Amino acid sequence: MGMRILGWGTALPDKIVTNHDLEKTLDTSDKWIVERTGIRERRIGDSTGELAIAAGRRALQRANVDASSIELTILATTTPDQTVPATSAHVHEALALGGGAFDLNAACSGFVYGLVTANALLDAGAKRILLIGAETLSRITDWSDRNTAVLFGDGGGALVLERVAGEGQLLASDLGIDGTARSFLQSDIGAKIKMDGREIFKRAVRAMVKSSEQTLKSAKVRANEVKLVVPHQANIRIIHAACDRLGIAQDRAAIVLDRTGNTSSASIPLALVDAIDKGRLADGDLVLLTGFGAGMTWGSALIRWQEPTSK
Ligand code: ACO
Repeated sequence: MGMRILGWGTALPDKIVTNHDLEKTLDTSDKWIVERTGIRERRIGDSTGELAIAAGRRALQRANVDASSIELTILATTTPDQTVPATSAHVHEALALGGGAFDLNAACSGFVYGLVTANALLDAGAKRILLIGAETLSRITDWSDRNTAVLFGDGGGALVLERVAGEGQLLASDLGIDGTARSFLQSDIGAKIKMDGREIFKRAVRAMVKSSEQTLKSAKVRANEVKLVVPHQANIRIIHAACDRLGIAQDRAAIVLDRTGNTSSASIPLALVDAIDKGRLADGDLVLLTGFGAGMTWGSALIRWQEPTSK
């Protein structure tokens, strides 16, 4: 059994914080932030639950399925609204979903971890799964620290996934973690993010390249056959460096970070849905999702795109 994508949706808070807004309170500049990261503005606000609910609702509407037919909800997040219960409990109630629900924390690789988990559960017999990535990183960002405050934002994205007979759309995947690197980005309970940006930059490029290559190898696909790369949206220079090393043209990458900043688990679905909405995908196209995050985690997944309406 395999997986088929039936619907998708995203959610962003209304409040826009531009680099020029940050210039007023931090020793930074729009020029520095754009040149060093590619980010121009980010959205701030709402709770993780609210963003997850809004993205999930849109995905269910797009899929045109009844919420009660969902057998499992997976919410990838590093910023749950409470320690307990899981934020997915709120989402489950608000959307009147069926089945079970749990949160998953694999930092910015969370959505890929969720996709691979969902695929395995569909293969094991689940019929329909709602996969959401949602974050309110603004709540754990130190707004007086220019090293991190310019990077992060809030948002959510969701997919409705259904079991199909045969191979399905997920062709290959790779997940990994190097716990010895866990101190490079951390936020203690009740505290703000602390990060060694330079070290993460180097490791991020290496991890995305290695994981992508492993995934392509498993699927017996060459890099130049990939139509669209949907990378974790942390820094445009990380994305371009990874594309160059993989031998994939930079303009094949889906980019939203200029408008969203780094939204961790939400960044890959936000970029994927943006590419779908822009008509960048046609039936049969190969799409490579690849991310890295605190932990340090990494994950890649190769999907063969298929319009939900096509056979
Ligand atoms: N504005 C102006 N100057 C700044 C700013 C800022 N916002 N931030 C740092 N600087 C300064 C530094 O203090 C440093 O000054 P110095 O040379 O006098 O010491 C100078 O700019 C260069 O600093 P670097 O750290 O070398 O800058 P770099 O080019 O590496 O960019 C950045 C920093 C953007 C953080 C980059 O390293 C990066 O993107 N790293 C990856 C971070 C990341 O992806 N984090 C998320 C991980 S995923 C997750 O799980 C959430």
